[in-house]
Amino acid sequence: MSYQYMYQESIMKPEHFWKKQAERLAWFQEPKTILGLDQYNYPQWFKDGKLNVSYLCIDKHIEDGFGHQNAIIYDSPVTQTKQHISFNKLHEEVSKLAGGLQSLGLEKGDTCVIYMPMIPQALYAMLACARLGVIHSVVFGGFAPHELAIRIDDCKPKAIITASNGIEIERIIPYKPFVDEAINLAEFKPKRVIVYDRKLGVEIPHQDRDVDYGELVSKSEAVAPVEVESNHPLYILYTSGTTGKPKGIIRDSGGYATALKFSMKHVYGVEEGDVYWAASDVGWVVGHSYIVYGPLLNRNTTVLFEGKPIKTPDASTFWRVISEHNVKVMFTAPTAIRAIKKEDPNGEFINKSDISCLKYQFLAGERCDVATLRWTEQHLKIPVIDHWWQTESGWPMLTNMVGVELMAVKPGSASLPVCGYDIQILNEEGKEVAAGVEGYVAAKLPLPPGTLLNLWGNPQRFKSGYLDKFPGYYFSGDGGYKDEDGYVFITGRVDDIINVAGHRLSTAEMEEIVASHHAVAECAVFGVHCDLKGQKPLGLIVLKTGDEQDENQISKEIIQDVRHEIGAVAAFRDVLVVKRLPKTRSGKILRKLLRNISDDLEYNVPSTIEDVTIISEIESVYKKNQIGIHKNIINHE
Ligand code: COA
Ligand code: AMP
Repeated sequence: MSYQYMYQESIMKPEHFWKKQAERLAWFQEPKTILGLDQYNYPQWFKDGKLNVSYLCIDKHIEDGFGHQNAIIYDSPVTQTKQHISFNKLHEEVSKLAGGLQSLGLEKGDTCVIYMPMIPQALYAMLACARLGVIHSVVFGGFAPHELAIRIDDCKPKAIITASNGIEIERIIPYKPFVDEAINLAEFKPKRVIVYDRKLGVEIPHQDRDVDYGELVSKSEAVAPVEVESNHPLYILYTSGTTGKPKGIIRDSGGYATALKFSMKHVYGVEEGDVYWAASDVGWVVGHSYIVYGPLLNRNTTVLFEGKPIKTPDASTFWRVISEHNVKVMFTAPTAIRAIKKEDPNGEFINKSDISCLKYQFLAGERCDVATLRWTEQHLKIPVIDHWWQTESGWPMLTNMVGVELMAVKPGSASLPVCGYDIQILNEEGKEVAAGVEGYVAAKLPLPPGTLLNLWGNPQRFKSGYLDKFPGYYFSGDGGYKDEDGYVFITGRVDDIINVAGHRLSTAEMEEIVASHHAVAECAVFGVHCDLKGQKPLGLIVLKTGDEQDENQISKEIIQDVRHEIGAVAAFRDVLVVKRLPKTRSGKILRKLLRNISDDLEYNVPSTIEDVTIISEIESVYKKNQIGIHKNIINHE
């Protein structure tokens, strides 16, 4: 079947199309209502269907005779450990942990936070929650206790599952102490903290509420999967919004399982039994969908990699993992490729490895620059596919659907809409624009199965953030354009969200922290170009007048404040002191102008600017501090 045929069918007859896909799952109760609408005309898929995602990821494959197949290959260069985990073993671990959680009082509808590094127990924890109908919320390990506390207060978990430590390049991350600190900071106090001891020889602080993971599993009975409704939340995943408060994306169960199963075959081109590797982290949506649920639903072997593309031990790691575990399709962020390219520009490590098993390389998480795409194509000699999606969508919205038909790759474009997504480029009035004209990237409702159900505890924010701007559409928050062939080019966010090394962060949140420093009169935080990480945050501060100030010391304190409040993942390392900030006459800081100057993007000086001379002041501060691309500044001289 051609891509065009399949895509058109998905848009013209969505109920028929997704009913067929849903039939590929073993429901406990097959859905009769395929597409329902809520009060906002927002889709609710398979409403009366009943299933259990943990059952579909594990038990079903054992019943079908694949219990001995590897479900997970854990490869950890940071601990020099490799472990092959069959579906039988996964069943034992997950069903007993679920029994343990049940014995602690967790039941269907409760929430549970998981704050864990990339170890098999993180996957067991997610799947054990899913088995009971407990809604998990995984928090990325790079977030600081303060961020964890915000999430605890928002989703009010009955328990937290964590590990003693994580391992980053050259340092041990104290996960358990971070959890204790977060609980101290949070207003809501979870009753239990289940701690997996990695036995790394580091002392673990103990509290009365703690439960040892190993002991809990060893004394618990295995439990059977609990039947849940299709719309029962499988998880909440917090992501950055345009305010300081993260948004809790709610994912359903039946729509998500249907979409992920469909995507493994038709988007990624893998068949049951193949080895699939997404080099991300379970704390991100990529980890949820393509380290855990997608591959396991489709009976693929998933690679769980605890390491980095470089320095663990070097830039050959990715190719070693692919070769050693016979990976057929791999998924990573362009940043990872840029990091490898920097260490091994001629791809010598690639040439030394036998990676003939690899059929497709997928990239996502941030814009893929043409140089990175070309380098990867040249050295891997296979199709390299840039694809676009978000935490909200849960699975790709734009891609080259290689499992259906391999289309031409156009550098700079994430290709064509995925089945089910009617992607349109709209102007401010909500009208579709012509080819080549940039606008807002939106998807006409109904969205296909698998996308966000709502925002946890905040349906109003869900409606105002995604549905109100263009009635009848889901608004993605990204800008872009289509070419004559319908290929979409994503040009970047149109809000205060930035992408640092494929990690989505809110500059508004950073700005709140910077502004709260006692020496700061006003400030602006925004994303500027970074050769390695795509973007990085930059803070400009105006100091309060008064006593003489040590600018260096203040900058250091502010950097430390952001690291302490948000976490190392913010990668906030640049603060510049300026005399004043460009503003409109009504006092609004011109952040976009500040960013455009540094990134050498074309810009018009707004006619509303308070004082135009400030632009050259800013340019010279950038130049002195080697911020941004500079061509622009040089042109002005
Ligand atoms: N737990 C605790 N800390 C973490 C963490 C985790 N799970 N992940 C990252 N951090 C810390 C890092 O140690 C680093 O701390 P530092 O400032 O003390 O050095 C900081 O957060 C920034 O991390 P990162 O952005 O990963 O930068 P890096 O310099 O350590 O590594 C790359 C650079 C390019 C190797 C790395 O960013 C990378 O692998 N990127 C791929 C991106 C990716 O997979 N994205 C997922 C979306 S698909
Ligand atoms: P996240 O929710 O963390 O997955 O981040 C989603 C955001 O990352 C999107 O809204 C885009 O801004 C950006 N993004 C993800 N993939 C791509 C891509 N392939 N091309 C351009 N931007 C991307």
